[in-house]
Amino acid sequence: MRFNLVILSLLFLTGCFRGSKFETSPIHLNPNMDNQQKYRALEESYFFDDGSTMRKPVEGTIARGMINENYAYLSGKNDDGSYLRDNPIELSMDVLNRGQERYNIYCAVCHSQVGNGKGIVTKYEYPVIPANLHDKRIREQADGEMYNTIVYGLRSMPAYGYQINTEDVWSIIHYVRALQRSQNATIEDLPEEEKNKLSDNS
Ligand code: HEC
Repeated sequence: MRFNLVILSLLFLTGCFRGSKFETSPIHLNPNMDNQQKYRALEESYFFDDGSTMRKPVEGTIARGMINENYAYLSGKNDDGSYLRDNPIELSMDVLNRGQERYNIYCAVCHSQVGNGKGIVTKYEYPVIPANLHDKRIREQADGEMYNTIVYGLRSMPAYGYQINTEDVWSIIHYVRALQRSQNATIEDLPEEEKNKLSDNS
C-alpha cells in the first residue's frame, strides 16, 4: 500500500499524466534540430552594429497593402480622413459605359437599373430595403463616401470591394451620378441646341 502511494506521488511529481501541463521543457532524448540558436523579434542582437535583431526594410520597400501614393484614389478619403468630394477618375463616355455595365451587374439586383431601390430582390422577400439612390442625402453625399459604402458595405448593404476593382468602383459612381442627374435634371442642363428644340415645339 505504501509502495503504491509512493509510485502515485512520484507520478504526480514528475507530471506523467496525459495532458498535464509542464512549465519546463520535457527531457528531449533525441533533439535533432528542434533546438537551435536563434534570435527572436525585438531581442538584442550581438551580431548587428545597432544591437537590434529586427532589420529595417530596404529603403523604398513597400509592404503589401501599404502603398500610399494613391491614398485618395484607393481609400476615397483625403489625408485628414474626410471623404473625397469628387471622383478622382476623369469622366468620359468609356468610363460611363463601363460604370453602367458594372452597375447593372453588381448593383441593379438590389437598387434596380434606375437606382430607385426596387431591384428584383425586393420581389423575393429580401430582408432589408435597398436605399433609393435618388434620395437627396445620397445625391448630395461625397463621392468618397459612396466609394466606402461600395467597397466596405454599410449597415445592411454587403461589401463589394472584393469583387469590383478600384477603377470600376469609381466608374460605377460616375454612372450613379448620371442616374441621379437623370431624375433631377432641369431644362438648364440641356445643351443650347436641345433647349431650342423644346422652345420651338412649345
Ligand atoms: C444585396 C443588395 C445590394 C447590392 C447588390 C448593392 N446594395 Fe447598395 N444598399 C443595399 C442596402 C440594403 C442599402 C441600405 C443600407 C442601410 O441603410 O442599412 C444600400 C445602400 C446603398 C447606398 C446608400 C448608403 C448610405 O449612405 O446610406 C448607396 C450609395 C449604395 N447602396 C450603392 C450601391 C452600389 C453603387 C452598388 C453596386 C456596386 C450597391 N449599392 C449594391 C443593398 C445593396
